[in-house]
Amino acid sequence: MILDGRALSQQRLEILKEKIQEAGISPHLATIIVGSDPGSRMYVRMKHKACEQVGIHSIGLELLESSLTDELIRRVRMLNEDPDIDGILIQLPLPVHIDSHQVLEAVSPAKDVDGFHTHNIGSLVAGMPGLTPCTPTGIMTILSDYHIPVAGAHAVVIGRSIDVGKPMASLLINADATVTVCHSKTSDLSYYTRHADIVISAAGRPKLITAGMIRPGATVIDVGINHVDGVLCGDVDFESVLEVAGAITPVPGGVGPMTIATLMENTYRAAMDACRPAQ
Ligand code: GUN
Repeated sequence: MILDGRALSQQRLEILKEKIQEAGISPHLATIIVGSDPGSRMYVRMKHKACEQVGIHSIGLELLESSLTDELIRRVRMLNEDPDIDGILIQLPLPVHIDSHQVLEAVSPAKDVDGFHTHNIGSLVAGMPGLTPCTPTGIMTILSDYHIPVAGAHAVVIGRSIDVGKPMASLLINADATVTVCHSKTSDLSYYTRHADIVISAAGRPKLITAGMIRPGATVIDVGINHVDGVLCGDVDFESVLEVAGAITPVPGGVGPMTIATLMENTYRAAMDACRPAQ
């Protein structure tokens, strides 16, 4: 079975559009992008387009590559204090001279729709309510909407980043999975993946996951975004793994659209918590 993230995200966005209308609220998202990286600009454009589709107002701040950490923090604080803004998204990666950690910590946890503030990360690990990172949350939605059992399953997460691997492991633990986290220093990766009911790869290495590494019938979620000879591909050797996996996400059209749909859902949640009526 191919897990169609594109179709699922469209369904979720349609449902969200109705919820926003029914709630009579007018959520506002602010995005910040620093520099002119074409990939980042494309992602931000897609986020604004999704906002338009569901009835979320969005504003985009575009700052020069040469902007400094303090300038960015000043902008974030202005958005924190702006009662019209429900969600703040800082597109990553930021230029290397900017202290990303300081900038992300400046975002008000209540408006942190990316779920990257340590307050929200702590809430996630503690199993408390809060805004959770969009990519791993979108993956949990794929698993639940396709009725893939998580409780009691052995999930192997490959990657330990703060935006995907670590929150993914926490969400799975909170959903009663048995979780193994592997990474670039793991020896004999296939030992772990062959014993997994669910494999989630966020390594950023094309063709890392091959058919021989997957238990027949297992679910394979590909978070990789790699460009090989100008072609977008994931971490999974899709054609061969499709033959053994019970379910698999394609790249593109799998996890990516769900990340954006989850960002919209997080913005809606932030707005509901702030309870701002439509004008
Ligand atoms: N860059 C790549 N993925 C993401 C994401 O999920 N959020 C943000 N803010 N930037 C990203």
